[in-house]
Amino acid sequence: METKYLQFNNEDLALAGELIRQGQLVAFPTETVYGLGANAWDEQAVKSTYLAKGRPSDNPLIVHIWDKSQIYDIAREVSSDAQKIIDALMPASITIVLPKKDTISDVITAGLDTVAIRMPKSKQARDFLRYAQVPVTAPSANLSGRPSPTTWQRVQEDMDGRISAILCGDMCDVGIESTVLDLSHGTPKILRPGVVTPETLELVLEKPVEIVTNPKSKVNSPGVRYKHYAPKVPMVLDLTDDHDKLCAYYDQKVAEGYNPVLWCNHPFRYGKRNATAMGIDTRDVARGLYENLRYLETRYDFIIASFCYDPKSMYGDEIAIGILDRLKRAAGNNII
Ligand code: TXA
Ligand code: MG
Repeated sequence: METKYLQFNNEDLALAGELIRQGQLVAFPTETVYGLGANAWDEQAVKSTYLAKGRPSDNPLIVHIWDKSQIYDIAREVSSDAQKIIDALMPASITIVLPKKDTISDVITAGLDTVAIRMPKSKQARDFLRYAQVPVTAPSANLSGRPSPTTWQRVQEDMDGRISAILCGDMCDVGIESTVLDLSHGTPKILRPGVVTPETLELVLEKPVEIVTNPKSKVNSPGVRYKHYAPKVPMVLDLTDDHDKLCAYYDQKVAEGYNPVLWCNHPFRYGKRNATAMGIDTRDVARGLYENLRYLETRYDFIIASFCYDPKSMYGDEIAIGILDRLKRAAGNNII
């Protein structure tokens, strides 16, 4: 199939909307990462998303909306906690999990009784969704297991020829996927950390939220079980920022014949060794995270990532929880 490259003008947006309603797949920008959109009311279209990505069918999809009134077409029940989040935070980089209506296909929810709903903050995303006129399921627009795309060119790398169209919008400003918050029953639970932090959620909900991060536990977010975001070259993660240890590890890799890179906070400390900065603060690290992974794997053959969570430093806020989650997955939990 020949993939169309569409721009953000009325004509192309109308075509993108038309393609969605016809059951085709259209990739589009959001403020977090690019999504691979399909008409949520069209089971066949939703099925083809799993195929295009090579995604296991037991990993459910998020339904994207542009107007809060759509939530009541999708969720069976909106608890008072959910209403607080909807009123205070949406649109934002957050996804809420609520009990689903019967009209929501099992293909979307992978058989769960709940559905994930997200109203993106980005204007480009909401313009596209408005033109689509229907709720749109969208996983990140990467091949399953690869780092999520934050530019349309990265979507092109993975999806050219596999989907009908790519809306060529801006680079994503947030850079990591939305916070997934389960509000379907009991204590609110963060199933996937993101830039909407536990602190913010607790302020809005006026109660504690639980952070569920164990990838092996049978939590309600099946997506966290799978290997994710892996670069094509081996990657390890250091959490200490110990200069001497990192130099020794790097030199060992060189001795083994690798051309490694230190991806870290203070690259200038490492003299002639290959070293590159992660970012000046957590927002910056998140924004560049996947783009850096996709770049570094083309230049080096071993990635030594170092991210030291220090509450007193510029990496000290709760966005670091989301970054650490992605780095651990990218490194296949290989911590040195
Ligand atoms: O920022 C984002 O959320 C991006 C953009 C495109 O909106 N989308 C995204 O989708 O990251 P995806 O498919 O890559 O991740 C969806 C996550 C998975 O971890 C999945 O398991 C979880 O949401 N999820 C979806 N439906 C769920 C449900 N009913 N209960 C629990 N978790 C659910
Ligand atoms: Mg994804």
